[in-house]
Amino acid sequence: MLHREQWLDLARKLDWEFSYVAERDVFPEVAAGRPWLPASAWAGWDEPYRTSFTEYVANQHAKEASLYAVHESVGRVEDYLRLDPSWRSALKLHAATLPLAEFAAVIGNLRAGRFGRASAWRTTSTLGALDELRHTQIPLLVMHDLVRADPQLDWTHRFFHTNNWVAIAGRHLVDEMLLTSDPIEFAVATHFVFETGFTNLQFVGLSAMARAVGDRMFEKMVKSIQTDEARHAQVGLPVLRTLIEHDPVRAQYLVDKWFWRSWLFFAVVTGFAMDYLTPLAARTQSFKEFVAEWILDQFQRSLDDLGLARPWYWDQFVAALDVYHHMVYASAYTYRATVWFDLTLPSPEERAWLALHYPASWPMLDPVWARVTDRLRTGGPELEWYTHGTTPITFCRLCQLPLCGGTPLHNTARIEVRGGAKYAFCSEPCAAIFKGEPERYAAHKDVVMRILAGEAPANVLELVRLYFGLDQDHWGKDTARGRYPWLEGG
Ligand SMILES: [Fe+2]
Ligand SMILES: [Fe+2]
Ligand SMILES: [Zn+2]
Repeated sequence: MLHREQWLDLARKLDWEFSYVAERDVFPEVAAGRPWLPASAWAGWDEPYRTSFTEYVANQHAKEASLYAVHESVGRVEDYLRLDPSWRSALKLHAATLPLAEFAAVIGNLRAGRFGRASAWRTTSTLGALDELRHTQIPLLVMHDLVRADPQLDWTHRFFHTNNWVAIAGRHLVDEMLLTSDPIEFAVATHFVFETGFTNLQFVGLSAMARAVGDRMFEKMVKSIQTDEARHAQVGLPVLRTLIEHDPVRAQYLVDKWFWRSWLFFAVVTGFAMDYLTPLAARTQSFKEFVAEWILDQFQRSLDDLGLARPWYWDQFVAALDVYHHMVYASAYTYRATVWFDLTLPSPEERAWLALHYPASWPMLDPVWARVTDRLRTGGPELEWYTHGTTPITFCRLCQLPLCGGTPLHNTARIEVRGGAKYAFCSEPCAAIFKGEPERYAAHKDVVMRILAGEAPANVLELVRLYFGLDQDHWGKDTARGRYPWLEGG
C-alpha cells in the first residue's frame, strides 16, 4: 500500500496540457469566469487542508451518525414544543431562508467543480457540492418531523418556491450569487465573503445561543454544517489571491459588492434572531457585538492580509450596525402577516437590554415600540390588525428589502433615474451595485412593480393570501397574540 502522502497530491491536483482543443474552449470565459487567465496563472492554486475522497466519506459518515443520535434523542415534537415560542420563530426564519439556499450552492460548487481553473480547486468544489447537498437535506429532515406540530415549519421547503416578499429578496441574492455567477465571482462571493465572513454569525454565534436556550438539536445541526463550511470555504482565499495579482480592481469590486449584499441578508436573519427572538436570559452578546467580533475584527484582518481595502462604504456599514436590523424588524413586526413566522413585541426588559447595547440609536427606535405597546394595550389581545400595516410598502430595487435604511430621522434611500424611469434604493451601496451592472438587475420587478403591472393584488390581505402564499394557519402573528403578562399588568 502506498502511504497517503505518496499519492494524495497527485490525486487532488492533476492538470495537463490539451493537445487537440484550445484551453479557451475547455474553459470558456462565460463559464469559467473573468478575468480569463492562462493555466499557468492558476498553477500555484493550493488549499491548506487536503482531503481524499475516502477520508471525506469516512468523516462525513461519522458526523451523520452523531447528528442522527442527537436527532433520535432530542429531535421530537415534544422537544420542539418545550422551546421558547420566540426562539421557535428564529428557527423558522433560519429553516426557510438557509436550507434551499444551500441547495443553490450545490449548483455553484458543481460549476466550479467543472470550470474552476485548477484541478485541486475542482476537487475541493466537488466535495463542497456534496457538503451543500447535506446542508439542504439535514434541516429538511429535522424540520419535516415537526410540521405536524407547527404548520409554519412547512415553509422550510416552501419558502423559496413562493413569491413571498422575503423569498423574492432571498432569491434575488442567492440566484445571483450561487446559481448564475462564474466560479471566480462565486469563490469570492460565497467562499470568501459569505462563508468566511458572515456564516459564523449564524452558525457559530447563534449556535452558542441555541445551547443557552436548550435547543441541542439546532446547536448540533448547525455545528455539523459549519465544519463542512470551514473546509470548502478555503477555496476562496487562493482564488482571491490570484485575482488580486491579475486584476486587483475587480477583486476589490467583487468584495465590496458581495460584502454589502451578504450584510443585508444576515442583518435580517441573524439580526432578528439575536436581538429579538432569543429569550433575554440566553443572549450572550448583541448582534452588533457579534458583528464587531467576526466582521470588524476578523474579516477586516483578512482584508488587510490580502492588501485589500475595506469596502468604500465602510462608514455607512458601521453606522447601519446600530439601526438597520432594528428598522427591518419594526417593519416586519408591523407587517407580520406577510411572513411565515411569529414576531415578538419587545418587553420593557428587552427594550432596556436593547437600550444598553445600542445606546446611540435606541432612543430613536424605542418610541416605535412604545406606540405599538400602547395600541396593543388599547385594542386588547387577539386584535392583530390594530398594530398591523394595511397598505403595501416600497422595496429597494437592488436588495428587494423594505426601504428602511438609515434612522427614523434620516432615511438613506437613493433615487436614480435610468432611461426615464426612477429606481429607488435603500442605500448608497445598493444604488452603486445596481449602477455597476444595470443590465443584470434592471429588468427585475419588485413587489410594487408587480402590483402596478397587475400581476399581484394591491390589497394587503389579498397580496398575503394569493401572492405570498400564506393563509391564517401559516402567516405570522404576534408571538403571544398580545397576551404578554407584563402588558396585562401595566
Ligand atoms: Fe452550506
Ligand atoms: Fe458552503
Ligand atoms: Zn437595498
